[in-house]
Amino acid sequence: MLEIKEVEKSFGGLTAVCDCSLAVQEGSITGLIGPNGAGKTTLFNVITGYYKPDRGNIIFQGQNIDGLLPHQIFQKKMYRTFQITREFAQMTVLENVMLMPDQQIGEKLWNTWFRASSVRKQEKVIQEKALDVLEFVELIDLKDEYAGSLSGGQKKLLELARSMMAEPKMVLLDEPGAGVNPTLMRKLIANIKKLCEEKKITFFLIEHDMDLVMNLCNPVIVMSEGKKLAEGTPDEIKKDERVLEAYLGGQYR
Ligand SMILES: Nc1ncnc2c1ncn2[C@@H]1O[C@H](COP(=O)(O)OP(=O)(O)OP(=O)(O)O)[C@@H](O)[C@H]1O
Ligand SMILES: [Mg+2]
Repeated sequence: MLEIKEVEKSFGGLTAVCDCSLAVQEGSITGLIGPNGAGKTTLFNVITGYYKPDRGNIIFQGQNIDGLLPHQIFQKKMYRTFQITREFAQMTVLENVMLMPDQQIGEKLWNTWFRASSVRKQEKVIQEKALDVLEFVELIDLKDEYAGSLSGGQKKLLELARSMMAEPKMVLLDEPGAGVNPTLMRKLIANIKKLCEEKKITFFLIEHDMDLVMNLCNPVIVMSEGKKLAEGTPDEIKKDERVLEAYLGGQYR
């Protein structure tokens, strides 16, 4: 579904992603792990158009997408969340979810004036969908709370809910488990599995929480110093000497 070929991205003299090649299979929940500064977030930023790669190709569903802008990639049904959540704090949970679709007719002034009834109709459809999505991620009881008042874990669930509104084919999650308590974590894992199985969404996710990675992801890709170091099942990765070495940075040799 997604193929990354010899991608490189530098910031001045610092090469964050270096000759990186990897692939994500359709229907999988692929994990991306690696030490701090390995280049994981930078790779996500390159894939989703936030940075232009200095070199290499990114192929999504058979199409070259490198060099496209974030909104163009979004239109191809690839959606991403951020390491730091980006909710609209002063809006309710429901409003945050309702904001997602990119073709709301109501946004155009012309339509609000002259086609008020169709705008109202569309808003109702979007609202119903948003309520369904909130039900799905079990945030429905908080629908009228301000998004800014949610806990870190609930904000992560809200991001997942927002991504579902866009009906993506692929979702990239940057540390979905960060700041999530164990109860919410179980919910998050169950929701991602359910979305993958029922809605046929492919996931590619960065995570430091090994429980989440080992329970959810297969395969797991390990990134170190800007490139892929290893790939395998969670069990294979746990036993891989090179992976241990990368995490310890060789300092205990
Ligand atoms: N916009 C930027 N400008 C300059 N350097 C950057 C920028 N973004 C990332 N870097 C550098 O690139 C390297 C890779 O960073 P990146 O954020 O991709 O790592 P990461 O694997 O996501 O780490 P973490 O697990 O801590 O989130 C780091 O050395 C970082 O300081
Ligand atoms: Mg990161």
